[in-house]
Amino acid sequence: AAGLVIGAAGGAGISAAVSGDGSETGKAGSGGSTALSTVGATEVMFHGKHQAGITTPLQSRGHLVAFDLAPGAGRKEAAALLRRWSATAKALMAGRTASGAADTGIALDAGPSSLTVTFGLGRTFFDRTGLAARRPGQLDPLPAFSSDALDPKRSEGDLWVQIGADDALVAFHALRALQKDAGEAARVRWQMNGFNRSAGATARPMTARNLMGQVDGTNNPKPADPDFDKRIFVPQGATGAQDWMAGGSYAVVRRIRMLLDDWERLSLDKQEKVIGRRKSDGAPLSGGTETTPLDLNKMGPDGKTVIPDNAHARISAPEQNGGAAMLRRPFSFHDGIAADGTPDAGLLFVCWQADPLRGFVPVQRKLDRGDALSPFLRHEASGLFAVPGGPAEGEYVGQRLLE
Ligand code: HEM
Repeated sequence: AAGLVIGAAGGAGISAAVSGDGSETGKAGSGGSTALSTVGATEVMFHGKHQAGITTPLQSRGHLVAFDLAPGAGRKEAAALLRRWSATAKALMAGRTASGAADTGIALDAGPSSLTVTFGLGRTFFDRTGLAARRPGQLDPLPAFSSDALDPKRSEGDLWVQIGADDALVAFHALRALQKDAGEAARVRWQMNGFNRSAGATARPMTARNLMGQVDGTNNPKPADPDFDKRIFVPQGATGAQDWMAGGSYAVVRRIRMLLDDWERLSLDKQEKVIGRRKSDGAPLSGGTETTPLDLNKMGPDGKTVIPDNAHARISAPEQNGGAAMLRRPFSFHDGIAADGTPDAGLLFVCWQADPLRGFVPVQRKLDRGDALSPFLRHEASGLFAVPGGPAEGEYVGQRLLE
């Protein structure tokens, strides 16, 4: 019984912190006589300056799915699809069922559970819809990296949808509803499933851990930073081929397999040097607590920098990359044990930036030249998507481009 009490208190604490985060989250009053727990009741708004699912706190379940427009489907069909998808996303995010009798019933009884649905457009979307002239240069293909082992069938796509929720059934329900909505207009190209720690699993709000056991996400840009919007979102007054992207962002998606057997063979000391942070609490090896800034110049008694020259956190730090920064918002994945006995597991790395050439690309280029983490990773799939700004009341996502 004591465990239950602690769990419940922890859950409430975490959810309170979550909904206090920003303008996006509110509280659902979803009827019924007994209040839902905070996890189920939390509702994220569909309308707003930016689409939901970018600055929304990490949810415990995620589905990433890419679609290709069907042969013969063009701009008209794409516009109708995004209109249908927007209506469904809005209803489900508010905890309602999908329209009509077609609802599968999978999410009945559950609240909105922080569901977010985020829509993106890939490079090829613009050719299929005759809109190549309005394709932003930001969608130019990412450069190839030496550590890439990319599977084209699980990469890119005309359309991309990111689903996140704090309940597995709510997330799957959204996935099925959106796939049904696609109807004859678009077909699934690839789909990936991810997860994060459940709300309430820790006694107080804490940064997530990844499957290597590291505290991951500490030095992300914060919405309260003065340059946050500039780094993550396309400016409201964007012009030229980017005008319809005002308030939008670019998502880089990478399925990064972790070579966990190799990683787990390293001593704790070596693991910590690979990142430059302590595993137990994420504090920099240069001292302090998790949120203490890295002291990249601090020397150890051996005459070497305490945070090694090839440490992942050193090489990826904005100060080392001309200010290049991105918002990392990943899900872990585990797709079973491969035939060779190794886990098919790792990170569905999703990062957000106003321009990939000032975010992901320069940082990955540097990491690829040989940070200490790279030998334990394999990039297996990749996508780059333009994620339009949030829809105003009465608007659907992408309307400013498509109508
Ligand atoms: C920081 C892990 C891939 C960019 C970190 C940290 C960890 C970590 C543990 C330190 C804590 C933090 O600040 O979040 C991983 C793992 C990866 C991965 C396990 C792959 C599976 C990448 C990739 C990029 C990247 C592909 C970008 C190209 C960054 C950045 C930081 C960071 C920008 C913050 C650096 C700072 O400002 O201190 N990563 N990372 N990471 N990582 Fe990664």
